Amino acid sequence: MKNIVILISGGGSNMRAIVEYVAQFGWQEAGLARIAAVVSNEPNAAGLAFAAEKNIPTRILNHREFTSRESFDAALQNVVDEFSPDLVVLAGFMRILTSKFVVHYEGRMLNIHPSILPNFKGLHTHQAALESGVKVHGATVHFVTSELDNGAYVMQSCVPVLADDTVETLAARVLRTEHLIYPKVIDWWVNGQLMWQNGQAVVKNGEQQVLMNH
Ligand code: GAR
Repeated sequence: MKNIVILISGGGSNMRAIVEYVAQFGWQEAGLARIAAVVSNEPNAAGLAFAAEKNIPTRILNHREFTSRESFDAALQNVVDEFSPDLVVLAGFMRILTSKFVVHYEGRMLNIHPSILPNFKGLHTHQAALESGVKVHGATVHFVTSELDNGAYVMQSCVPVLADDTVETLAARVLRTEHLIYPKVIDWWVNGQLMWQNGQAVVKNGEQQVLMNH
């Protein structure tokens, strides 16, 4: 049984999509994988209630109660490790992590970023996409490395940018695709089709082996 720990900061719609996918395919009943815990740095994150409803253990670690990024990350690592994670999933987790934390989970931590990387790293990606005039925008699931939004990409989605889009309409369109690609990547990982080898993501699909590189 593989343990997946999901980190959130807010609404948690990606977490919800993953939890529903795990339930739909009966991974826990099959002894394949379970969502071992949902951890939030925001005490009021809406996603916490959903996780609790599904009987998933939840933990809150308010970063404001720590004097440094290092001490918060050390405490976070303790909380996450309590659940013996095989995979850590950042799903709208809005804290920059120290490299010590990232190295600890290297090769077993994924993130979803709301842009087609390497475009628009960091925050306010939808605003940046609108301002830049791109006609296509989307999201990227990638392994987490110490360099912000730069670990090996695994899957990307794309959506059109429409002439009358606002940040809200564009974000909603991208988010719907996030709910499709994030569970799919986790499916690959759970089923041994996605691996991390020497800083690269390797996807084995049938006879084919693809190196996901950038
Ligand atoms: C998602 O769009 C995710 O890609 C983004 O926050 C949103 C969280 O939504 N993540 C980042 O910007 C990370 N830097 P959710 O809480 O409903 O899943």
